[in-house]
Amino acid sequence: MFDEGPHLTSSPTLPWGDSVRELVSEAKKRFEWGQIWHSGKGARQMERQVISMMGELFHNDGALGFICYGGSESDICALAAAKGKAFVKRFPDADHSDPYVLIGLVPEFEKKSHSIVMPLHSHYSLYKGCALMGLEPIPVFPKEGTVHEIDPADIRAAIREDTIGLVGTAGTWPFGSIDPIEEMGRIAEEKDLYFHVDACFGGFILPFLERSGYHQNLAAWDFRVPGVSSISADLHKNGMVPPPASSLYFRDRKTIDYARMISPPFGTLSGTRSTGPMAAAWTMLNALGIDGYIAVAEHCMRLREELIEAVSKIPNLKVLGGGMINLTVIYSEEIDLNRSAWLGGRGLDACGRSESTTVEPLCLHHATERRPDPGLCRFPGPDC
Ligand SMILES: Cc1ncc(COP(=O)(O)O)c(C=O)c1O
Repeated sequence: MFDEGPHLTSSPTLPWGDSVRELVSEAKKRFEWGQIWHSGKGARQMERQVISMMGELFHNDGALGFICYGGSESDICALAAAKGKAFVKRFPDADHSDPYVLIGLVPEFEKKSHSIVMPLHSHYSLYKGCALMGLEPIPVFPKEGTVHEIDPADIRAAIREDTIGLVGTAGTWPFGSIDPIEEMGRIAEEKDLYFHVDACFGGFILPFLERSGYHQNLAAWDFRVPGVSSISADLHKNGMVPPPASSLYFRDRKTIDYARMISPPFGTLSGTRSTGPMAAAWTMLNALGIDGYIAVAEHCMRLREELIEAVSKIPNLKVLGGGMINLTVIYSEEIDLNRSAWLGGRGLDACGRSESTTVEPLCLHHATERRPDPGLCRFPGPDC
């Protein structure tokens, strides 16, 4: 009765429907009733192993972090950590080992304004997080004539006296581009700012494409960049774990402690967490292993290449360049794509553009009726 039926998806589907899918579901089911407070050590060990395996792939043996319920939660927790760092700078003599002492200082802290500088196209979870935490987002617009290329000089120019952190994205939604993380990292270090990299989409594909040699000479975007404080990576996107599951990685203990100050005791937004997603994540990572993820990642990109090649042959359709992961922006200057049936029947939205639409099995379309302009992925405003 409640069968979802066939649907369009942006997530890789290779291991789904086969024995890997069964295995992961079984693992999740087995731990479904477990809660992080009461579970034995098993679930925590699995969580730690997932964080340490991915931490290594992000070039940091000492990364600490947690599994949580989606990319939005990961991004919001990273903003909490940015706030925690600002707390410590503002109240150097407070007892930083006691989060409740710091929480008591919130009213005093919030008498001053605090801002986060990030490219305009940053995911709306970051705008949401800023709104929830009383932080002002300062969006940096892309370079003239582009939709996703950010000039580091514009990031620098946007920083104000009240700026506490920067956010960059590795695998932007919907462009699949990578922000200038190295340059942003240098700015963060120089100005002693928290720097979060949102790799919710790219985190479980970029390391594998780099390892396989598919992407050679990709600029460093992870903990190789010394200024990077944290990285979010969604298990339920390219990690292929059933939702809800994301992961957040901090450079070191000091950095995770910033998140724990604002969001005690773990740094997660949730208190009670199910251990099911931990077991599912651990099982998927171990079942596929690095080689399995590499195979899926390369398969994704091959399908993307096929899609691009096919689309390029269709008159009046164009593909936006600059995407580095399994996301593809297709647009037309002549055809009203929003009206096209192949967009999955989502139809026009009130802004006259189609929302992200995905095509089975791997690739994502974000189609517009005209060449994408810098306002394309702006946080939906009252005019929408
Ligand atoms: C770059 C990026 N960050 C954050 C998110 C938020 O993830 P979630 O929908 O799991 O909360 C997304 C979701 O598409 C994303 O693409």
